[in-house]
Amino acid sequence: MEKIKVLVTGSNGLLGQNLTKILLRESDFHFINTSIEENSFFDLEEFLERFLLLPEDSQERISYETLDITNKENVKKITQKYSPEFIVNCAAFTNVDECETEKDLCWKLNVDAVKNLIIASRICNAKIIHISTDYIFDGKNGPYTETDTPNPISFYGRSKLASENALKASGVDFIILRTIVLYGSGNNVKPNFALWLVNELSNSRPVRIVKDQIGNTTHAEDLAYGILKVIEKFEGKKNVQQIYNIAGKDILSRLDFAYLVCDIFGYDRELITPILTSELNQPAPRPLKSGLITLKAETELGLKPMTARDGIQLLKFELGL
Ligand SMILES: NC(=O)c1ccc[n+]([C@@H]2O[C@H](COP(=O)([O-])OP(=O)(O)OC[C@H]3O[C@@H](n4cnc5c(N)ncnc54)[C@H](OP(=O)(O)O)[C@@H]3O)[C@@H](O)[C@H]2O)c1
Repeated sequence: MEKIKVLVTGSNGLLGQNLTKILLRESDFHFINTSIEENSFFDLEEFLERFLLLPEDSQERISYETLDITNKENVKKITQKYSPEFIVNCAAFTNVDECETEKDLCWKLNVDAVKNLIIASRICNAKIIHISTDYIFDGKNGPYTETDTPNPISFYGRSKLASENALKASGVDFIILRTIVLYGSGNNVKPNFALWLVNELSNSRPVRIVKDQIGNTTHAEDLAYGILKVIEKFEGKKNVQQIYNIAGKDILSRLDFAYLVCDIFGYDRELITPILTSELNQPAPRPLKSGLITLKAETELGLKPMTARDGIQLLKFELGL
């Protein structure tokens, strides 16, 4: 039987690299990683050395192409070349504060580029797996289910909601996966909340952490595993229009997450000063009482999200600390 073919965009990012690990380890799919950079950041050789039990053909199942998804013609060209059954969009403008000042760039990548993927997906009837966020909500009464009404309060949130709406209006098959506070490790990844914390605390630098932002935190491996389960569930299916929340198990404040990091990594809790979000004067407003309810993904996809403790322990292992 022919192997499932998956095209991944933004594969050099945090989620992209974690997805690469999961697909290599847990599937036999053929997948084409693409990102804006000339080379893949994922160290395949090192990974294969660590996982000696992987089948011999693992290296042949993965390839890399440079692809800027804002370039409509190139998106079409690569899609035509590989004719994938799924396109997983891990690329995005993810700096929430910069989105407030770089509105055109944000829209170009978070909305217009998704329209490029929609056009390309029609070439081969590919299903699009698109990653969205809790920032489509205002954070007044979380945690949220998949059917709650969005009301974004930042430009980033508006752009991500617009990308969801573009998919819904397109008529193509899609699965939107909403996630929240993604963290984990990878080569050259941007400092996510947990990595930044580890970096500061391990150097005994004091940090100010908000106590009024509540939600789940999500190890990128949990979301990557969710993507695998989505591919397995919807492979060969037609008329697929789905939304799933995929997030870590516990709903907690950023402050409590930071205390857990201290406990698990052995850092001094005294380095942390609890503050309010308003004290940070960030350009983009944040949803405060947020969180995503993952019941649908747990029942329909069989996911068992990590607790915050498990996720932080995994991060510690990944960092070799
Ligand atoms: N991080 C979070 O807390 C969070 C929370 C909720 C939802 N999400 C969503 O989760 C998804 C994955 O996020 P992430 O944390 O993995 O993001 P990330 O680490 O920033 O990865 C995004 C990747 O896309 C690449 N990219 C940028 N512009 C591109 C372009 N024009 N064409 C192709 N690739 C391009 C980036 O390259 P450069 O690094 O060179 O720009 C980066 O490698 C995004 O949709 C994000 O909105 C994230």
